[in-house]
Amino acid sequence: MPGIVIVGAQWGDEGKGKITDLLADRADAVVRFQGGNNAGHTIVREGVHWKLHLIPSGILYPGKHCVIGNGVVIDPKVLIDELEALRARRVDVSGLRISANAHLIMPYHLLLDSAGEARLGKLQIGTTQRGIGPCYADKAARLGIRLQDLLDEKILKKKIVAAMEPKRLSLRPFEKDPSLDLLTMTEEYLTYGHRLERHIGDTSRLLWELLDEDKTVIFEGAQGAMLDIDHGTYPFVTSSNPLAGAASVGTGVGPRNLDEVWGVSKAYTTRVGAGPFPSELTESLGDTLRERGHEFGTTTGRPRRIGWLDLVALRYASRLNTLGSLVITKLDVLSGLDRIEVCTGYRDNEEAQFEDFPYHQTVLHHASAQSTELAGWKEDLGECRTLSDLPQAAREYLEFIAEHTRVPVTLVGVGPEQDQIIWTEAAKDTIIGRSAVVVD
Ligand code: GDP
Ligand code: IMO
Ligand code: MG
Repeated sequence: MPGIVIVGAQWGDEGKGKITDLLADRADAVVRFQGGNNAGHTIVREGVHWKLHLIPSGILYPGKHCVIGNGVVIDPKVLIDELEALRARRVDVSGLRISANAHLIMPYHLLLDSAGEARLGKLQIGTTQRGIGPCYADKAARLGIRLQDLLDEKILKKKIVAAMEPKRLSLRPFEKDPSLDLLTMTEEYLTYGHRLERHIGDTSRLLWELLDEDKTVIFEGAQGAMLDIDHGTYPFVTSSNPLAGAASVGTGVGPRNLDEVWGVSKAYTTRVGAGPFPSELTESLGDTLRERGHEFGTTTGRPRRIGWLDLVALRYASRLNTLGSLVITKLDVLSGLDRIEVCTGYRDNEEAQFEDFPYHQTVLHHASAQSTELAGWKEDLGECRTLSDLPQAAREYLEFIAEHTRVPVTLVGVGPEQDQIIWTEAAKDTIIGRSAVVVD
């Protein structure tokens, strides 16, 4: 012990990478437990940008254990490229450990992802086209290929044949694609196996040992609660569980080892891809916030959809995760507005009102936001380091969020840099914040 889980409390891109990087300074290990390279986590340190897709955000510290858990799906080519890019920037990646049980994204998963989207036409999900859904589908169908399979040519070949067979029909349009040739694919993946072999291990046991030695382990979520395949805005979701509960299954660590759950939310809302978004801003203010907050996807470069903070969804995310701490990022982006709206309820097309997140998809698709208006502020927040440095309206905004979610705000982001952060008094009540300098 202790295990600390950091999850996205919205639709992803909340700033989890920055927060994990910040808290990892006080931890011994960081482990990813779900998702794949659909994730894009940006870290900014002294003006230098780091973009991570598969490798945990603790990698930038020398000597920390960095683990990719069994619940992650891995595109080995992307992982090797990411490792090389880090090595080229003199980051020591030798400590990375990857679960032998993690599933692999294969060339046919990428083809199936784009074919699936094309087939859906107007109803498409807007996936990142990284093969995530088809890979998890094969895992559930027990046709998946795992990292350990790369270490045995015979097994690998057999498994590729078995996995491709049932997809013959859907893959027919790609028949001439050389990446689907059995021998080429086997050889390519065996090469990946050789290159990754030294990182492959029993990560469940490693994490158990670390926790047993009382080391601090951070479980780093990708995506966010509203993209959860079970509890999110299905079918406009990802194919894994980005909730804290998945940190246990996705790493092979028992739930009693998860001591704290931190949820990360922007001070407003963004979403990439299709699906319901009740508090979406369609007027030009959305464009202004997109530009100001640089709201373009880290992975695909797509412009993110923008909306006011949705407290109905945030309360739901808080419940699903039993959040103990809330991190509000990008408060700085809201500077300069005369007024700020916050979505505190939904109304459907029959004027029914909802304070809780509706379970019925149809209701959600027709829901519009009922908002409360709060005062804005003009000041730049980039230099604020304590709550008292913030304008009163910004402090009241944070109080409003804490009151309506009933979760204490422990950290507030006021810029992309690692040190553009405010530790609040409430952080003192957390394991990881206890040793932090709390100045307010
Ligand atoms: P993640 O997927 O949750 O790790 O988030 P992303 O990295 O995809 O997107 C968050 C973006 O916001 C990144 O470009 C971060 O550098 C940036 N960011 C994080 N926190 C803050 C903040 O408090 N203020 C501002 N202005 N930018 C932030
Ligand atoms: P991070 O970790 C934001 C979205 C996609 C799409 C849906 C399904 O950076 O927060 P998928 O490729 O997973 O099958 O796409 O999920 N999505 C994300 N949106 N941030 C992410 O990750 C995302 N990962 C997937 O845009 O709507
Ligand atoms: Mg992201």
